[in-house]
Amino acid sequence: MSTTPVTLKTEGAIGVLVIQNPPVNALSPATVQGLIEGLAAFEARPELQALVLHCEGRTFVAGGDIAAFEDPAFSAAPYNQFLGRLEASHRPVVAALHGTALGGGLELAMACHWRVAAPTTRVGLPEVKLGLIPGSLGTQRLPRLAGAQRALDMMLSGRMVGAAEAQAAGIIDEISDAPPLQAALARAQALALAGGTPRRTSALTVDPASLPDGLLDQALAKARSQPQYPAHEAIVESVRAAATLPFPQGEQVEAEWFARVLRSGTSQAMRHLFFAERAAEKIPGLPKDVALRPIRKVGVLGAGTMGGGIAMCFINAGYDTVLVEASSEALERGLATIRKNYDATVSKGRLAAEERDRRLARLTPSLNDTDFADCDIVIEAVFENMALKQQIAQRLGAICKPGAIIATNTSTLDVDQIAAASGRAADVLGTHFFSPANVMRLLEVVRGAQTAPDALATVMQLAKRIGKVAAVSGVCYGFIGNRMAEVYMREAEFLLLEGATPTQIDGAIESLGLAMGPCRMLDMAGIDVGAKTVIEYEKAGGLPPDPTYRVVVRKLFELGHFGQKTGAGYYRYEGRTPLANPETQAVCEALAQQHGIARRSDITDTEIIERLIYSMVNEGARILEEGIAYRGSDIDVVWTAGYGFPVHQGGPMFLADQTGLPLLVQRLDHYAAVRGNPFGYWSVSPLLRRLAAEGGRLSRS
Ligand code: COA
Repeated sequence: MSTTPVTLKTEGAIGVLVIQNPPVNALSPATVQGLIEGLAAFEARPELQALVLHCEGRTFVAGGDIAAFEDPAFSAAPYNQFLGRLEASHRPVVAALHGTALGGGLELAMACHWRVAAPTTRVGLPEVKLGLIPGSLGTQRLPRLAGAQRALDMMLSGRMVGAAEAQAAGIIDEISDAPPLQAALARAQALALAGGTPRRTSALTVDPASLPDGLLDQALAKARSQPQYPAHEAIVESVRAAATLPFPQGEQVEAEWFARVLRSGTSQAMRHLFFAERAAEKIPGLPKDVALRPIRKVGVLGAGTMGGGIAMCFINAGYDTVLVEASSEALERGLATIRKNYDATVSKGRLAAEERDRRLARLTPSLNDTDFADCDIVIEAVFENMALKQQIAQRLGAICKPGAIIATNTSTLDVDQIAAASGRAADVLGTHFFSPANVMRLLEVVRGAQTAPDALATVMQLAKRIGKVAAVSGVCYGFIGNRMAEVYMREAEFLLLEGATPTQIDGAIESLGLAMGPCRMLDMAGIDVGAKTVIEYEKAGGLPPDPTYRVVVRKLFELGHFGQKTGAGYYRYEGRTPLANPETQAVCEALAQQHGIARRSDITDTEIIERLIYSMVNEGARILEEGIAYRGSDIDVVWTAGYGFPVHQGGPMFLADQTGLPLLVQRLDHYAAVRGNPFGYWSVSPLLRRLAAEGGRLSRS
């Protein structure tokens, strides 16, 4: 492998700038420097008739190097000047595209005079997913090539488009079945022979027909309705500049917006999550190339909401899947729900009917669990009861072939106890899916004390194959997510007893950007579900000896107020609209009186946020300390991908880091002092206290 990421080679009379910066040819500072020097070398060789840009490895440049954005001295200027010089070349410059030409990669291609692509190439400007805008003239060149409307759509969604669509839109010029370098060399030769002025994208104007009346104003209004994502407004304004100003002034507008969004907290948080999601895939101590167990056929036990959703994940991803239920009624009900889900997607035009049929054809319903015998992994999704899960584990341990993985979709129970019952604990782990399983991105993978490393690694890769973001948790009550959520719910209920209303609590939490506060969330998930979990946890001896612990949810359960589904829970419901529920108020007042809790009228939003979020972060620090999570950033992945924590906050650990760990510690100590600490709720995790003292970060621990 070459030691410099860019080399100028020659093929006859054509210069070839070869980029080689694995894994995805991202534009590191060294790569940019290499491009600048490579172009200078080409300029110094007038005998070369044209230039081709080509990337080694799996892809054309897939973007700027995201890690480089963390450098406070980062500037897009050197690269942008290089692109200007490249485009200004009097000799033709051809981009040879393959893989994914994204971000700075597509910006590079658009500065070339001709773009030839392999048929499987995909292009896009996905910066918005990092809270950024294209900062190397992508906002100026894409509207000139593809029109304002399409450029807006691509940049606001960040979606990739395939080669055929890109060609139809004018983004690429040619699709070739020949190897991209060969096709580009042929094109470069032809262009050099033809002579004339090269086609420069910056010399084009944006087609007015691509800018229907009101398009930009509507897009701007929509962007401004989400001020926590400033990149949206920045994209709209940059496209406006592309459509109305000369290129150099548009460049200025883009540069100003880029500098602004680059420094925004939102982009920092989203960049953190980009790397966090990729780090979460990795199992410490396990080599990347560990031999994985082959997974061809999947078994799912239980065709309820969870089991059905899980089966959909696998048939969507192309796996033959056996779905087993105990009774034909339950199986039929489960299948009907799966069909209904697909039909709804088809009728919305988001899935072709033939594709629905192909997916359903991969599903084998069965009443016989011996049909799991040739499955490579079996996931049980029966209801949350230890005795039942152990019985099933024992049965699966006997039925499943040697080497098959046995997974339990428990959300709280001890995976080690379940594993022990199987008689083959090395094959057992937890796969905690979130409801609806076919939609939610998160998969919490629970490694038991005996889980074989290759089984864990296999499931992590399988998670990726079915489009999930996975994070590993050790065994403890509730794993990473639900264990922290328990602390959050505990404080929400204490505040209800002290005089806060569900509306006030939810309002404070939603002001952080969470889609739903704790009361609305539990009303939707079911008060019965929430209460039963607390009751089970108590039976297992997990609760502190606190007679006031989550008494509200238990009382509502007793009263049959199960939330949205019964029309009343923390709120009462008219349709789906939550309204203040005087009965809940009365329940809270009575419980407060019964337990001698003083009602207050001075509870502020700040207190709500501090008590719910800071205590949850403290629990996260304990989870880290105990080695339940490998990394603080894994906790952020769990909360953003599975619990609706807003990505612009980067997850609870990142939010805590940005808030300042010393402040967190001070506030936790404050609540210990004013509320007392008989059950250790406010005891600061030693890790958190140490990091606060040392200037460390939870999200990097
Ligand atoms: N900068 C730095 N590193 C990058 C990168 C970038 N733009 N794009 C990918 N990587 C790294 C990943 O962190 C990962 O590193 P790791 O193996 O050490 O974890 C590796 O490249 C492979 O990426 P991954 O996402 O796991 O591979 P994939 O095949 O699933 O997807 C891409 C490849 C290019 C589609 C995907 O990585 C992607 O979307 N990248 C971001 C593109 C982007 O936003 N570009 C604009 C940046 S301004």
